[in-house]
Amino acid sequence: MASKKLIDMLNMAAAREIQVSIQYIWQHIMCRGMDSEIASKVFEEFAIAEMKHYEKIAERIDYLGGNPTTKPTEIKYGDTINEMLEIDKLAEEEAIKLYRQIIETAESEKDYTTKVLFEGILKDEEGHHYKFSTLLEKG
Ligand SMILES: [Fe+2]
Ligand SMILES: [Fe+2]
Repeated sequence: MASKKLIDMLNMAAAREIQVSIQYIWQHIMCRGMDSEIASKVFEEFAIAEMKHYEKIAERIDYLGGNPTTKPTEIKYGDTINEMLEIDKLAEEEAIKLYRQIIETAESEKDYTTKVLFEGILKDEEGHHYKFSTLLEKG
């Protein structure tokens, strides 16, 4: 069975996923009329992707005998599109760091399903990070 350490890490991931899911959907709504059609669509698309990450991670925590959290980590918003993108780029960097640690821990515990799950999610987060970075360069 998975260690408490790994389940705690998965719950840190779950809390982050709820955070960015709400954060991005709020930004999607609030950046309307700010002359940023592209950013608005990206926020919406990624918010839904993050909610799906939460679902998969929560399912895994439940399977491993843990209790999936419903509490988000601190939600950060931003006043301008640029601020939003800066905040979100940082959030993706933090997720990438945590998910690499989860992959390493899962591997050391021979929990290959969790490892493969997070390799897939990590790829998505790198895509989000790349998109926020390129939108910032354009702005
Ligand atoms: Fe995510
Ligand atoms: Fe993401």
